[in-house]
Amino acid sequence: MEKQIAQWNEQFQKAKPEEVIAFFLEKFKNKIALSSSLGAEDQVLTHLIAQIDKNCTIFTLDTGRLFPETYELIERTNNKYKIKLKVYFPDYKEVEEMVFTKGINLFYESIENRKECCKIRKLKPLARAFEGLDAWICGLRREQSVTRADMQVVEWDKNNNLLKINPLIAWTEQEVWDYIRANHVPYHTLHDKNYPSIGCQPCTMPVKPGADVRSGRWWWENPEHKECGLHAKE
Ligand code: ADX
Ligand code: SF4
Repeated sequence: MEKQIAQWNEQFQKAKPEEVIAFFLEKFKNKIALSSSLGAEDQVLTHLIAQIDKNCTIFTLDTGRLFPETYELIERTNNKYKIKLKVYFPDYKEVEEMVFTKGINLFYESIENRKECCKIRKLKPLARAFEGLDAWICGLRREQSVTRADMQVVEWDKNNNLLKINPLIAWTEQEVWDYIRANHVPYHTLHDKNYPSIGCQPCTMPVKPGADVRSGRWWWENPEHKECGLHAKE
């Protein structure tokens, strides 16, 4: 698999995202899905996928702590592309137990608590979303964070034993927005209010002009810790 991945990365190094998507949608028919947070990058990917295969699974993880605007965008996206985003929820017993023992806003107290919340509200539902899949598509970009600077178009996700496809890995923020505007892609209304990266409401803040795009995510933690586990390397 390692050799194959290196060859794909060579092949797709300068390819357009639509070429990457078309190739892998065909290669892993019905065994590939887009994991969407409804952020700008994922909306570009949804737009591209909808042009190729409206039946390709696009799922989102509803942590129970999302912004109302995120739910509104799920509706708008479904209506525009005539698709149905699949929404995964966390296990209610685990959420109830966590909240009862550690509090409703436990994540502000320690990295350990924050990771536990992300595990229950995102990672476990993600594992369910992965059942039966061979590959997943994500909206990661190298420019987003120190933790993403050396990522490739195609990677082996060893935590989940899946191929991970990052069609927008080399794109700049400017390219994402040029594409959204030129193609009338529906986007999250909070992006116009200084939220370049949007996750759960209690863990996302607007950023100052010119600041790092992910500086509003878990802003109380150091940049090296700022991954929820969806894209952890170990
Ligand atoms: S996060 O790990 O810090 O939350 P970020 O918001 O930058 O990640 O998004 C990176 C990619 O992770 C997205 O393009 C998407 O593929 C995936 N992702 C993040 N949050 C979700 C979510 N709630 N549901 C599904 N996929 C998500
Ligand atoms: Fe919990 Fe915050 Fe992680 Fe959302 S981002 S799952 S609220 S810790």
